[in-house]
Amino acid sequence: MQIFHHCQSVREAISSARANGAKIGFVPTMGNLHRGHLALVRLAAEHCDAVVASIFVNRMQFGLNEDWDRYPRTLEQDIQKLETVPCDVLFCPDEQEIYPNGMDEQARVIVPTMSDILCGASRPGHFEGVTTVVAKLFNVVQPDVAVFGRKDFQQLAIIRRMVEDLCVPVKIVGADIEREDDGLAMSSRNSFIAPGERPKANQLHRSLEWIRAKLYDGNRAFKALEAEAAEQIRAAGFNVDYIRICESRSLEPAADDDNELTVLGAMYTEKARLIDNVSIALDDV
Ligand code: PAJ
Repeated sequence: MQIFHHCQSVREAISSARANGAKIGFVPTMGNLHRGHLALVRLAAEHCDAVVASIFVNRMQFGLNEDWDRYPRTLEQDIQKLETVPCDVLFCPDEQEIYPNGMDEQARVIVPTMSDILCGASRPGHFEGVTTVVAKLFNVVQPDVAVFGRKDFQQLAIIRRMVEDLCVPVKIVGADIEREDDGLAMSSRNSFIAPGERPKANQLHRSLEWIRAKLYDGNRAFKALEAEAAEQIRAAGFNVDYIRICESRSLEPAADDDNELTVLGAMYTEKARLIDNVSIALDDV
């Protein structure tokens, strides 16, 4: 695996691979890699001839009181993990390389409306930071295919919309959520879960699955299901940000005749904000 820190050098390496006919796959990350990230790299390799991963803890997508400063940075272990999967190039720039004119002066990419709901409502500016850095990374790497996890379902939907609206020539591929044995979605933020909280931290997943089972049974009392699931999570000792049954593409609250549904949720442990989701195609029932 080749490692680059600068836009110019990674671009040159990739363009010579492309000149040799290689189809380029891209997996952007913020590091502290786990099985979920590595699954994305493997999936990219199935679609492409050469895979580029990036590691950049993008301050622009963190709110002022969020966890940018304590976000786990584990570059050496990350490199070791990437050596075990088909990753050809790692791009790990610093902030000066990505925002040479400073973050305040940086041109930005905004996907309106979708960025302001669900996680965007409690994390103002978060998705603007995501779309801006992803657009920039796309322009540096110029991949044919980019892989994103369904774990961040709203992020995936927003990036699909960005690519569509701006005619970005990149195919976006979604990857399934990798979970711990008890259902907890793998996340770099799971390291913030206190040992005492950990046995119940899968409650978000359990409650989303509970809603899924009810929807399959034909229950369409969406608001009542959301309220009951939120109550289950509070009873397990966590604060709830939101539980919402949405139409899978628009992420608007589900209507009675929608059949492609995704139930999204976010909850707070003492020191972490955890998200998860489950999708349901009622056509299949
Ligand atoms: P990060 O949280 O590091 O996630 C990088 C990619 O890994 C995202 O596409 C995310 O959805 C995926 N991922 C994380 N946990 C996963 C899991 N348990 N199963 C499957 N996929 C998982 O998401 C970001 O970084 C950033 O916002 C980024 C897109 C890199 C822009 O800064």
